[in-house]
Amino acid sequence: MGEGGRAADWTSREYVVIKAKENGVHVIGLTRGDVTRFHHTEKLDKNEVMIAQFTEHTSAIKVRGRAVIYTAVGTIHTDRDD
Ligand code: TRP
Repeated sequence: MGEGGRAADWTSREYVVIKAKENGVHVIGLTRGDVTRFHHTEKLDKNEVMIAQFTEHTSAIKVRGRAVIYTAVGTIHTDRDD
């Protein structure tokens, strides 16, 4: 699917779930394409959950703070070394 994909094409894509384990966790969306920059920052407080997809606008997600991230490739605790 290219950049011209209809919005509906993204709705069937898998989701990433981020659960904050402390106040002030930041979920940052980075743009798709030639220029990679932050386009959205969402602040989560403890136990708040964000459910997100990768879209035509978002190619990467950065998580800052203590959180658990559930993805199709695994579960990551940001505060663990494993
Ligand atoms: N408007 C953004 C987009 O469609 C919303 C978004 C989707 C987003 N996934 C995200 C924002 C992940 C931050 C992090 O791409």
